[in-house]
Amino acid sequence: MKKYKIGIIGVYGRGIHACQAHRPEQGFEVVMGADPFDAHPRNYQIPGFKKFPERFPDATLVKDYRELVANKDIDIVFVMSPDYCHEEQAVAALEAGKAVYLEKPMAISIEGCDRILRTAYRTGSKLFIGHNMRYFPAVLKMKEIIDSGIIGDIQCGWCRHFVNYGGDAYFRDWHSEQKNTCGLLLQKGAHDIDVMHWLMGAYSKRVVGMGMLSVYNRCGRRPEGSEGSAAWNENQYPPLELDGFSPIIDVEDHNMIMMQLDNGAQATYMQCHYTPDAERNYTFIGTKGRVENIGDSGKCQVHVWTRRGSRQEPDIIYQLKPVEGSHGGADAPIIDNFLDFVANGAKTNANPVAARNSVAAGVLAHYSMRNGNIPQDIPQLEPELLEYFANNQQR
Ligand SMILES: NC(=O)c1ccc[n+]([C@@H]2O[C@H](COP(=O)([O-])OP(=O)(O)OC[C@H]3O[C@@H](n4cnc5c(N)ncnc54)[C@H](O)[C@@H]3O)[C@@H](O)[C@H]2O)c1
Repeated sequence: MKKYKIGIIGVYGRGIHACQAHRPEQGFEVVMGADPFDAHPRNYQIPGFKKFPERFPDATLVKDYRELVANKDIDIVFVMSPDYCHEEQAVAALEAGKAVYLEKPMAISIEGCDRILRTAYRTGSKLFIGHNMRYFPAVLKMKEIIDSGIIGDIQCGWCRHFVNYGGDAYFRDWHSEQKNTCGLLLQKGAHDIDVMHWLMGAYSKRVVGMGMLSVYNRCGRRPEGSEGSAAWNENQYPPLELDGFSPIIDVEDHNMIMMQLDNGAQATYMQCHYTPDAERNYTFIGTKGRVENIGDSGKCQVHVWTRRGSRQEPDIIYQLKPVEGSHGGADAPIIDNFLDFVANGAKTNANPVAARNSVAAGVLAHYSMRNGNIPQDIPQLEPELLEYFANNQQR
């Protein structure tokens, strides 16, 4: 059995998810981590949390990711660091010949994504992007329904994204600044834009946006120079009564965008970070019917209408069973798929070109909303890149 040695860049936060890849009995072993910082205070709220050296006593932990990438023994690198690190760290790992699992959003600019794609193409190093929503049971059920043809050709897709933890997660640390994320259409919306592209069978070719920062800019801030951290707490509501937010907030707290896809269909994505409840609510409308998810994870439903009638009386109701594990049970299957891709060339749900195109729509929608709401055309990729990634990175 071939053995694969794994290095994780950014070992806390989302890096804890990468630890699931440590499967010595299957030949995958975490041997190194790189992180310039110590664990966050909030990590200790996780039941059973262990710091990296406790979890992997035989592994090495360094501060500089370049030391990890230079380690010739390492075959696989997980890039789990903040968004603004992705381009530099993924390119370095690909150049060093490592197979790379890169968290979404792929990068914070279109140029950054294209540099990563071109590096993967030139070096032949395998690239996989952590779009775990492509493994969500509700999303997979809607895809199955659409692919069956029962609701006809999809012409229209809408997503309303209620983010009730926006004030916990995105306005207290690095997420709150455009220089680190571009904006929350990438940090959160890259997932949903990608799901809409996937289920509607096409990518956005044109996008227009409106967005605003109108709530978190009025909340209490932590002092300039103090350290920020996300602070998850179900009781934090309503937002205007809260404090401890970043001294600099220049990302929008609600975003509304419209997309024209290259197959003629149209879509909208609406995101709000100060709702009391949380859900990604998608609907796709075809020439013969409509599908919608009611709840997005755990015990949720997918409704289908194929005749005229009341919204309260769908023609089919699929009751989905809760799946164990983080992110609605999607985090384990995405790691399975990545390891199978690296070891056996397995087909993946998540294609790097799709990840780039979700970032491209988000970047240009932010540009549109910040520059007079003028529609923006998405630049196309070179045909050889499209062919290489469509062919599952085989030449
Ligand atoms: N797919 C998902 O469902 C999902 C969920 C959460 C986060 N994410 C993504 O994961 C990434 C990390 O997000 P997070 O919420 O864990 O952030 P975070 O700030 O909580 O944690 C980031 C980690 O990276 C480390 N780090 C910071 N700068 C670094 C550097 N220069 N080099 C190496 N490590 C560095 C931090 O110390 C920390 O351990 C982001 O890109 C985010 O979009 C994805």
